[in-house]
Amino acid sequence: MKLILIGFMGSGKSTVGKLLGQRHSLPVIDLDQAIEEAAGQTIPAIFATHGETYFRKLEHQVLATVIDQPGILATGGGTPLRADNQALLQNAAVPIIHLRANAKETLSRLGNTQNRPLAKGLDQAGIEALKKQRHQAYQACANYTIETNLLSPMEVALAIEARV
Ligand code: S3P
Repeated sequence: MKLILIGFMGSGKSTVGKLLGQRHSLPVIDLDQAIEEAAGQTIPAIFATHGETYFRKLEHQVLATVIDQPGILATGGGTPLRADNQALLQNAAVPIIHLRANAKETLSRLGNTQNRPLAKGLDQAGIEALKKQRHQAYQACANYTIETNLLSPMEVALAIEARV
């Protein structure tokens, strides 16, 4: 199995990616982690010292270096926003799975938003607005969308396995 997970912050990309990797003995690449390794800084530190534009450039460069590696790729919540990233994801020619949760569930999953500069201080309405703004980009990339509100990570993994 080879696949790409996309979706909003807190949708479960990293957790479900790890689970699928374990279940199928596949390598898992977490894009946020790969960016942190490339930068030698945490994501909040990259945003704080260089800003979002710099982060997005780095995100694109790192995506381009990992996209052809085998296994499972868990992207960042903003990865599908750029057209050049969308092209990289689609050209990989593997299933792209969009994990979705409603704003209430997203907020409760995010908990402490210290590690997510773009979610910091957002209430449910703020999350809803940002999700709406991004919906189109996720839909443009996705081959399958999975509603994860009532599902455990294992149930999401099983739902993915049933489709790919
Ligand atoms: C971002 C999501 C984060 C991380 C960065 C920006 C976004 O990834 O890439 O903070 O724009 O939604 P997660 O979705 O893994 O939290």
